[in-house]
Amino acid sequence: MNLFYRKLIRPIIFRLEAENAHNLACRFLSFTEKYKVPRSLIKYFSQEHSYPVNLFGLSFPNQIGLAAGMDKNAEFPNSFSAFGFGHVEVGTITPEGQTGNPKPRLFRYPEYSAIVNRMGFNNLGVEKISRKIQLNFPKQKRTIPLGINIGKGKNTPIDNAIEDYRVCLKKVVTLADYVTINISSPNTPNLRKLHHSDFIIPFLKELSNLNTELAKQHQQAPVPLLLKISPDESFHTLELIVSKAVDLGFSGIIATNTSISRFSNKDYKDFETGGLSGNPIESKSLSIVKFLAKVTDHNFPIIGVGGISCLDSALRKLDAGASLIQIYSSFVYNGPFFPSDLAKALRYRNKSWP
Ligand SMILES: Cc1cc2nc3c(=O)[nH]c(=O)nc-3n(C[C@H](O)[C@H](O)[C@H](O)COP(=O)(O)O)c2cc1C
Repeated sequence: MNLFYRKLIRPIIFRLEAENAHNLACRFLSFTEKYKVPRSLIKYFSQEHSYPVNLFGLSFPNQIGLAAGMDKNAEFPNSFSAFGFGHVEVGTITPEGQTGNPKPRLFRYPEYSAIVNRMGFNNLGVEKISRKIQLNFPKQKRTIPLGINIGKGKNTPIDNAIEDYRVCLKKVVTLADYVTINISSPNTPNLRKLHHSDFIIPFLKELSNLNTELAKQHQQAPVPLLLKISPDESFHTLELIVSKAVDLGFSGIIATNTSISRFSNKDYKDFETGGLSGNPIESKSLSIVKFLAKVTDHNFPIIGVGGISCLDSALRKLDAGASLIQIYSSFVYNGPFFPSDLAKALRYRNKSWP
């Protein structure tokens, strides 16, 4: 199926401008989301390659998740589940809907299996998206965990950023299986300042306290909170952040988001401005996963993301210390059956799975 996608479908889709191609794919996904029969067909072709992994109190049917940004408005979780993902992360969601940056804002570089984006958190806002989740992917009916990724609005000054996260967390806390606190997208003004020591400590503290309060209020266990970090910060900064996240009861780290670095590569220097993802960021993300696993003694869950495009790169992240992995760019380049192929390959690599 992947060969069929790469030889026949991809050349047609890639003739379109990147965001138009994305929108076309979304129209197909709207169809599969709406009707069970095409979803069952997809399920049949992608087969189920389940090898359950338990992490922060959740059971994941396999280790491969859809990274944030593909399903920003939580429109297609049932379809992504049918394609074989073991979890889906929707968002980034902000308190109010916003249109994002002017187009063009999404760029493909097929010869490097890379993508650059400067989307800027285009999304419908937490109110509308929560309603969609409640309606189309309610907790009691889903078969894979749903992560909800939250962030700050474009016009919110960094000093008030916490308020945006509070609004979103309150709204999604009963809907999400885990919540990702995204401080690392490069296309929202000043967002990455939240990595700095003056901001990060009170910021994490406040969210952790709010999570405890909300759990009491809703008489549920606190929702697992994950922090998604940038690959462009120093190891020193990341070590401080992860140690605070551990102390404050966060459940894990997602490493990493896209990079604004072009890694002294003269070809990448001609790329558009924005966050780089795909193959060029693999080794950087991997080095961060390795570093975080080492400083936490492999005792703090890490979701590894960045440049996973084949079995070997998936294994590199897992061997480095990631418990789960996520993909975005390789879903675009390798096609919709890539997650199930990868799940199958991983399952057969580890014979201890039943
Ligand atoms: C078009 C696009 C939009 C993205 N939007 C988001 C987002 O809204 N929130 C987020 O946390 N990450 C976002 N990401 C980052 C991905 O979740 C992922 O961390 C990154 O692409 C690295 O993974 P990859 O190399 O498999 O693509 C986006 C990535 C792309 C390519």
